[in-house]
Amino acid sequence: MTVRTVAIVPAAGKGERMGADKALLDLGGTTAIARIVATCRAAGVDEVLVVRRDGAAPLPAGTAAQVVVVPPGGEMADSLRAAQAALPASSTNVLVFPVDHALVEAETVVALLATVERGAAIALPLFRRRPGHPIALRRDVFAEIAEPTALLRDLVKRDPARVRVVPSANPWVHADLDHPEDLRAAQCALHGEPWSTVAQMFRHRSRRAYRPDPIPQPQLERLVDAARHASTSSFIQAYAVVCVRDAATKGECARLCSGQEHIVQAPVFAAICADLHKLAACCGRRGTSLQAQSFELFLQATIDAALVGQNLQLAAEAEGLGACMIGAARNHPEQLAKLLGLPPHVFVVFGMTLGHPSDDPLPRGRMPLAGVLHFERYDVAGTGAVLDGADDAMRAWARRTNAAGAGKKGRPVDETKGWSDRMARMWGAGSDYVAARQVLVDELRRLGFGLG
Ligand SMILES: Cc1cc2nc3c(=O)[nH]c(=O)nc-3n(C[C@H](O)[C@H](O)[C@H](O)COP(=O)(O)O)c2cc1C
Repeated sequence: MTVRTVAIVPAAGKGERMGADKALLDLGGTTAIARIVATCRAAGVDEVLVVRRDGAAPLPAGTAAQVVVVPPGGEMADSLRAAQAALPASSTNVLVFPVDHALVEAETVVALLATVERGAAIALPLFRRRPGHPIALRRDVFAEIAEPTALLRDLVKRDPARVRVVPSANPWVHADLDHPEDLRAAQCALHGEPWSTVAQMFRHRSRRAYRPDPIPQPQLERLVDAARHASTSSFIQAYAVVCVRDAATKGECARLCSGQEHIVQAPVFAAICADLHKLAACCGRRGTSLQAQSFELFLQATIDAALVGQNLQLAAEAEGLGACMIGAARNHPEQLAKLLGLPPHVFVVFGMTLGHPSDDPLPRGRMPLAGVLHFERYDVAGTGAVLDGADDAMRAWARRTNAAGAGKKGRPVDETKGWSDRMARMWGAGSDYVAARQVLVDELRRLGFGLG
C-alpha cells in the first residue's frame, strides 16, 4: 500500500500534571491512544506514528500504530522531529494529533485532510473562532520542523497565507488533558451523563490574563441571560450587570479597582450590581416608597447579585471563556457608580473580567471537604485537622505553581505560608482589608442602601 497520509501522535510526556500517562487514559472504555488511532483509521489516514519516550509503558495490544522512541525529557518539537525522520518516503500529508484532542471526531480529521489534499499547506480546525488541533500539513511544510529550534506553532505562524481554517462544531479541538478534572470532563462528555456541569465546576480557575479577541455581543447576551436564571429571593430580581467594553472606561474601572491590569486586558469588565432601583420604581408607581433602610433588603439584593455573578462565571467557563471576580470594585463604590451611571439604590457588589484566557494557572483546589460539608451537626472538633489540611494543600499548590513557573506574572508564590497564616494576616488585628473598607458602609448608605 502506498502511504500518503501519516498521523503523528506525540505521546512521549510523562503526564506529570495529570499524574498518569496521557496516551493510556481511559476514555469511554478505551485508551486515548486507541481512540485516536481508530479516529485516524476511520478518517482514511494510512499510517499512525506514536512517539513514546524510552521506557514508557507499551501501547495496548493490537494498537495499529508504529512506535517511534525518543529519549525522555524532550519537548513536543523533539518528538515531531523524530517522527519526521521516520516518515515513509511516499507520504505526502501529515496530521499532528496530540493526545489531548483524543475526543476530536473523524469528520474533523476528514475535513482537515481534504483541505490539504485540495492544496492548502496547513489546515487547522476552528471552533468558536479559535484555532485548535489536530493540524494537517503538507509534508514539505512539515519538514520545516527539522530546523533545530522550530516549533509547530512557528510553522503555522510563519506565513498566514498558507494556513486554511476549517470550522468545526467539536469543542475538543481546544481541549487539554492536563489535569484530572480535564479527564473527568472528557469522560462525562463521552458517557453523556448529566454530570458535565459538575465537571465544569471542578475545572474552575480564576483567569487573570486575556487575549484581545472581543466577546461577540450575542454570546455576551446569551451568557448574562442564562446567568440571570439563577434563583432570586421572592422573585425580586434585584440585580443588574453593566458590561464595560470601552477601553477608556475599562481603564477607569481598573484604576478604581486597585489598578488590576487584567481589567484593562480583558475585553469585558462586567459590573455585577445589587439593584433596588427597579423595586423603588415599582413602589413609586404605587404611590409608596422603597424601604431601602432594610438590612434584609440589602442582603437579598447582594445575594441575588452574587448568584447571578457565579452563574455568569460558570456559563462563561462552559463556553471556553475565562473570568475573574473583582471584589476591589468595592474600593470606591461611589466613584464606580458615578462612572457607570448607576441610579440610586444600585451598587457594584463585585466586578468580573471576562474574555479568552491566555494564562494557565494551576487549579487552587480547596480546603478539605470536611471543613465545609457536615452531616447532621457542625463538626467543630474537626477544625484543627481541617486547617492543617488547608495549610498543606496551599503549600503544595504553591510548590506546584512555582515548579511550573505559573506564579502571578511569573513571580514565585510563597511556599512557606499556609492558608491559615494568610487568613489570619488578612483578617486578624491590624487587617489592611478591614482598614481599607472602613468607609464602605457610609458609601453604601449614600448609594441608597440601608444597613439596619
Ligand atoms: C467576590 C470575589 C471577589 C474577588 N476579587 C478578586 C480581585 O479583586 N482580584 C483578583 O485577582 N481575584 C479576585 N477574586 C478571585 C479569588 O482570588 C479566587 O477566586 C480565589 O483565590 C480562588 O482561586 P480560584 O478562583 O482560581 O479557584 C475574587 C473572588 C470572589 C469570589
